[in-house]
Amino acid sequence: MSRPKHFFLVAVSICIFACATAGDRGGQPLVTAIAKDAATSLYTIPAKSGRPLVLDLSGPIVWSTCDDDGASHDTLECNDMDCMRAHRFHPPNCPHNGNGMPDAQNDHRCKCTAHPHNPVSGDTASGDMVRVTLSANATDGKNPLHEVSFTAAASCAPDSLLAGLPAGAVGVAGLARSGLAFPAQVARTQGVANSFALCLGNRERAGVAIFGGGPLFAANGRSITDMLGGDTPLRKHGESPGYYVTASRGVFVDGARVPLDDSYGPLAIGFSTTTPYALVRRDVYRPLIDAFDRAMERDGAITAGARIPSPAGSPFELCYNSSRLSLTRFGYFVPTVGFGLEGGASWAVQGINSMALVIGRRMACFGFVEMKEGDKAGYGGGAAPAVVLGGLQMEENLVVFDEEKRTMAFTGQINGRGLSCSNFNFTMPA
Ligand SMILES: *[C@@H]1O[C@H](CO)[C@@H](O)[C@H](O)[C@H]1NC(C)=O
Ligand SMILES: *[C@@H]1O[C@H](CO)[C@@H](O)[C@H](O)[C@H]1NC(C)=O
Ligand SMILES: *[C@@H]1O[C@H](CO)[C@@H](O)[C@H](O)[C@H]1NC(C)=O
Repeated sequence: MSRPKHFFLVAVSICIFACATAGDRGGQPLVTAIAKDAATSLYTIPAKSGRPLVLDLSGPIVWSTCDDDGASHDTLECNDMDCMRAHRFHPPNCPHNGNGMPDAQNDHRCKCTAHPHNPVSGDTASGDMVRVTLSANATDGKNPLHEVSFTAAASCAPDSLLAGLPAGAVGVAGLARSGLAFPAQVARTQGVANSFALCLGNRERAGVAIFGGGPLFAANGRSITDMLGGDTPLRKHGESPGYYVTASRGVFVDGARVPLDDSYGPLAIGFSTTTPYALVRRDVYRPLIDAFDRAMERDGAITAGARIPSPAGSPFELCYNSSRLSLTRFGYFVPTVGFGLEGGASWAVQGINSMALVIGRRMACFGFVEMKEGDKAGYGGGAAPAVVLGGLQMEENLVVFDEEKRTMAFTGQINGRGLSCSNFNFTMPA
């Protein structure tokens, strides 16, 4: 009797040692490069056999075109746990019609159907829920170490649902707060935390994403994760599976509080990787634009005549002759827009994250546009959030979305500290 017991103790102590040193749940986080498509301003990761999936912070599932006509893939059963998860969030304007339909070959079997949603066109389709193979590289936060393939539940989608996505993209990797989103499936299959870090680059320079928690180092050995500020609580916004925080201390332009109508309740700030610029609800838009315009003049940041009419069809209202603005490490020298978040952190938007370059870069426009009816960055009806920060606002900033702690943390833009989201060393050690 004593021998097995002794053996058991040894096994337990090895596990305690191994688990403690391996961190979290023994697994290794996964890293992937993030490309920004010039034509669509969307961000992609090469996670489907090297083919790109579009990142969608508001998307609750992973979907892609299936390589066959439905004859050869194995569709999940309607009572599969992953089928239930696929129906936890419902796309806008899509009828509820149960979890699936009877199998044509076997009427005792119910085939699971999901509703893949295109965040750009707003279209929704129906597709079989299947298991697919996705891949990324394991990482120690410094380099990719080796490629990892894992099985994930995903929805098939017709080719027509790819409209508006980058050329070559085969679907969408939803990153939202859902059990079937890409980060949650990495967490379950790899034994890592349900937490991920996004460092979006731009058209010229790729960014990086790490799924399963940090750390993240630049190639020069500096830890980027060490620069993260305090945690900001994530809040629910209606039925949306996306990421929202509350700007409980208000909105600022160059440190001065923008006067807002507070009858709309707490200022919900959302995050979207599928809208290129910030979308601002009407009641916040006008005061923000006016405050920015006045601060531009007061600062003397611009000389008279630098403000030029916005080109026809442009979503922007405030545009400037870029050769009359001065350029700094933080982008154009313009007033800083700040969001005073619950928990004490401030999300500061400097020129690099506020000014959109248009017409061959001769013009720089304030990248906060008025939200249109229906622009709520995806899922969930009800009231629109006050602001949805877009891709431009998140670039060159390491942002960690931690579903386990239900918090978000960010470094603020890192260019001013001599770093960039393109600094990760993607060379695999020999
Ligand atoms: C893994 O890393 C290597 C080396 O950087 C890269 O060529 C490959 O595309 C990566 N694989 C994935 C799935 O990202
Ligand atoms: C922008 O400013 C430059 C330099 O002052 C000037 O030459 C150019 O004509 C201006 N462009 C526009 C569109 O006003
Ligand atoms: C990137 O990582 C590889 C493999 O560890 C190493 O040989 C190389 O020197 C690193 N590059 C830089 C710029 O540090």
